[in-house]
Amino acid sequence: MATTISRDTSSAVETEAAGEELGRRLRAGDLVLLKGELGAGKTTFVRGMARGAGSAAQVASPTFQLVRVYRGRVQLAHVDLYRLEKDDEIRDVGLDELLDAGAVVVEWGERLTGASGALISIEHLGGDRRRLTVERDLPR
Ligand SMILES: Nc1ncnc2c1ncn2[C@@H]1O[C@H](COP(=O)(O)OP(=O)(O)OP(=O)(O)O)[C@@H](O)[C@H]1O
Ligand SMILES: [Mg+2]
Repeated sequence: MATTISRDTSSAVETEAAGEELGRRLRAGDLVLLKGELGAGKTTFVRGMARGAGSAAQVASPTFQLVRVYRGRVQLAHVDLYRLEKDDEIRDVGLDELLDAGAVVVEWGERLTGASGALISIEHLGGDRRRLTVERDLPR
């Protein structure tokens, strides 16, 4: 069984820093799925990932745009599946093209059933505390 690694954070800044570490490791073709309830800190984690990937862009939830693209050392596409229920809508996101162009991070990524890629869960521990767990790491 793969080793799972957990880290508890006690502020948004710490969760961002964890995201930045992952962002520094990103390469084109990497897929990162984020799992966690509303307000868990998925977008906060992505903010750090974008910085680690070398982008100075403002990271915001792509809930209404579906996909936001941050250009850096490696391009990072930020997808949010919250409002997408049906499989055909999820396919319309065009994941393959995005992965050709760079790395991709997906909020509510567990909805991409059967997708490979890293899987990170973020759980509320009460107050500002969160538990980040690497359920599946990048394949290297
Ligand atoms: N330890 C922490 N880690 C991350 N965010 C935290 C932490 N403590 C407090 N917060 C706050 O929790 C909120 C997390 O919001 P964020 O938008 O990142 O969550 P989300 O999982 O993307 O939500 P949604 O499901 O609506 O997309 C922010 O307001 C952030 O400042
Ligand atoms: Mg979000």
